[in-house]
Amino acid sequence: MASRALVGRLSSISTLEHSQTNTIKNLIGALNFVFYNDRKRNYSSQKRLVTMIPGDGIGPEISASVKQIFSAASVPIDWEDVDVTPVKGPDGLFRLPQKIFESMEKTKVGLKGPLATPIGKGHQSLNLALRKAFSLYANVRPCKSIEGYETPYKNVDIVTIRENTEGEYSGIEHTIVDGVVQSIKLITENASRRVAEYAFKYARENKRSTVTAVHKANIMRMSDGLFLKCCRNVAAKNKDIKFNEMYLDTVCLNLVQDPLAFDVLVMPNLYGDILSDLCAGLIGGLGVTPSGNIGEEGAIFESVHGTAPDIAGQNKANPTALLLSAVMMLRYMQLTPYADRIERAAFDVIREGKVLTGDLKGNATCSQFTEEICKKVTA
Ligand SMILES: NC(=O)c1ccc[n+]([C@@H]2O[C@H](COP(=O)([O-])OP(=O)(O)OC[C@H]3O[C@@H](n4cnc5c(N)ncnc54)[C@H](O)[C@@H]3O)[C@@H](O)[C@H]2O)c1
Repeated sequence: MASRALVGRLSSISTLEHSQTNTIKNLIGALNFVFYNDRKRNYSSQKRLVTMIPGDGIGPEISASVKQIFSAASVPIDWEDVDVTPVKGPDGLFRLPQKIFESMEKTKVGLKGPLATPIGKGHQSLNLALRKAFSLYANVRPCKSIEGYETPYKNVDIVTIRENTEGEYSGIEHTIVDGVVQSIKLITENASRRVAEYAFKYARENKRSTVTAVHKANIMRMSDGLFLKCCRNVAAKNKDIKFNEMYLDTVCLNLVQDPLAFDVLVMPNLYGDILSDLCAGLIGGLGVTPSGNIGEEGAIFESVHGTAPDIAGQNKANPTALLLSAVMMLRYMQLTPYADRIERAAFDVIREGKVLTGDLKGNATCSQFTEEICKKVTA
């Protein structure tokens, strides 16, 4: 704006020739270009703050591993560690601590290790609480075969996108009369459209060709029918991506027969919970599967395995799932070159097969595996 005003003022000086004004305009244009690039350079070299929830059990070990690898790769990120152990409110109920809200408000991006869900201790799953608190409406799990990690299936490359906020997990349950319990599956147009739009956006941004909506609209005509209608409407506005619709049972059958036939799958909450674990099983299990929970104003990326209490504190954990979740996070933050470098290094170490943790049939410690990835990252 200032430069435009300057050109205007210079043009109005009658002693300047037309050609002189043009030369000055060109000079100002060049200066603007230099300033713009300089601003861009400063921005990209600026460190961004990310909330880290190390979690329980093996969580602190695998999150320390991710931090070490990020530091070796000079990723421009500072971490803010937050403990999400629930705090008891005056009403006697346990809730997420205020600190996590303050941190996410600031950073808008989080990386989360596994959290223990104590059974019968009077508070809901913390994972569920985090998804609800930050309205993380789409759960994304890329399931891609890892070269060097043998499973019965090769070249699997599927992404499951699960509606994360309602459906069978809306938590509306009650006893009608003794011995009769009702649970409500809530499907809304807003949430269905939002997750369908995200699926098509994801497909386009990640150069995927097909989105398949998974449903049981033949049985749940109204609820799944609404979900499917929303997917169809969104598909009609995104004709560059192929759209399929399939029954859940057929998808289960075909996934185990020929997983290579699938690309991006989008579905309501419960189907997504089950199918995303099935797809993780095709590539070797939850220990190597990353995931991201995407919201309108932020996102939390997490490893989907549990706290592994049997090996916690023994330096035996495999940090791959959390590291690949962190790689997804870097892509979300548009720090793609760092994501590519770290992902390549992790996959190289697994493919070479010399330094692997116990779950990958090796005998290296978590620290040795981490060191090996750091070496590749800096090579
Ligand atoms: N996303 C989450 O936070 C999440 C998910 C699942 C379970 N949990 C919680 O975790 C706790 C334990 O659950 P679980 O025992 O059913 O499942 P788990 O995933 O913790 O363990 C299952 C098996 O896989 C192994 N394993 C898991 N992750 C591993 C890793 N990164 N490296 C090497 N081995 C690994 C464990 O040693 C164990 O043998 C429970 O409190 C549960 O509620 C949390």
